[in-house]
Amino acid sequence: MNRPIRIETPSKQRPSIESIERQKRNLSVRWEDGHQSLFHHIWLRDNCTCSQCGDRSGGHRYLELGSVDPDIAPEELSIDSSGSLQIRWQGDGHLSSYTPAWLREHCYSSDSIVRRRQQPVLWDSTLNGKIHEWDYEQVLAEDSTRLQMFQHINDYGFAIINAVPTLEDQIESLASAFGFIRETHYGRIFDLISTPQQRILAQTAHAIRPHNDELFRDPIPGLFMMHCLRASECGGGASILVDGFSAAQRLRSEHEEMFDLLCRVPIPHRRFLVDDVDDVALSANWRSIELDRYGDIKAVHINERTMAPLDTDENSVEPVYQALQQLLALVYAPETCVTYRLEAGQAAVMDNHRVLHARAAFNGNRHIRQCHVDRDEFFSRLRALRRRLDSDQVYR
Ligand SMILES: [Fe+2]
Repeated sequence: MNRPIRIETPSKQRPSIESIERQKRNLSVRWEDGHQSLFHHIWLRDNCTCSQCGDRSGGHRYLELGSVDPDIAPEELSIDSSGSLQIRWQGDGHLSSYTPAWLREHCYSSDSIVRRRQQPVLWDSTLNGKIHEWDYEQVLAEDSTRLQMFQHINDYGFAIINAVPTLEDQIESLASAFGFIRETHYGRIFDLISTPQQRILAQTAHAIRPHNDELFRDPIPGLFMMHCLRASECGGGASILVDGFSAAQRLRSEHEEMFDLLCRVPIPHRRFLVDDVDDVALSANWRSIELDRYGDIKAVHINERTMAPLDTDENSVEPVYQALQQLLALVYAPETCVTYRLEAGQAAVMDNHRVLHARAAFNGNRHIRQCHVDRDEFFSRLRALRRRLDSDQVYR
């Protein structure tokens, strides 16, 4: 079912500078929409983007910070005919120019920081029956549709794609739209198929509780994708998705001390299979909940199947168990779960640092192929598409 999705369409109308007040160590800029920004002299000199200094925003830089006088100040200020701020600096008389769009996008005055933080759309079981589905051909053919889908993954943490050809290796092409496949000891692609020779739970027909994948790796796989070649004939094997951010946010509002503990204590995860068949001894430690620099939830890492013996100070052992039990209860609660049965020709793409996935038990010949791609490449493509479709977009 299609539903309206939140797409941030960049505004072509950016405010212009109304006035500039020169202060001892900074400039106070008043904008025509009433907003006020403070730009420190050293910050402005450091961010000169002339060909001699290079581009700080794009990561191509020639100016060496050590060569900048910490007390540098403008000799002259002006606004040119295009509305750009021009500064001639004291000392060497270097000339810098800043467009109003660039200055406003990089304003670091407090309410601007709040403005540019993109908040995720939190969801729960009320999303059942309302999941937006994307068309494979359209996503591949149209940059604007692909950008919308990428933005949807950024906002919701997952996307469902229809009409993916049910060819054995189609997942390779699907994955290449998002990034590069991360090869592991499973190879590039992992077949989720019930087999009597199972080595791990995923290769059985048992139900699997919601979890993030492969937390015993460092780095943790970023995007997790599943391509359904054959659904279970019995109707079982539904996929269950859980918004880990939503569950963690609930823990924060209902049990703040537990939330804080799980943001602090690393949880060990392991996969040891050292025998005649395998030679795998993976081990990594991750906090169940990670915060960004603003204190917002930026990642969840939850998988009780791969948890190794807890190794923390003795006073924290019981509180950590209590907090984990509480978080797992929230993650497993029916009101958090969205159930979706992938049919043949459908694919699901999930942010493995946010969305937990699970599977109901099934019988029969269900065949799903899965792989992982790293998130840095995915977000690079998202930013590049934004920029390609709107040249005013500032890299962030
Ligand atoms: Fe999994």
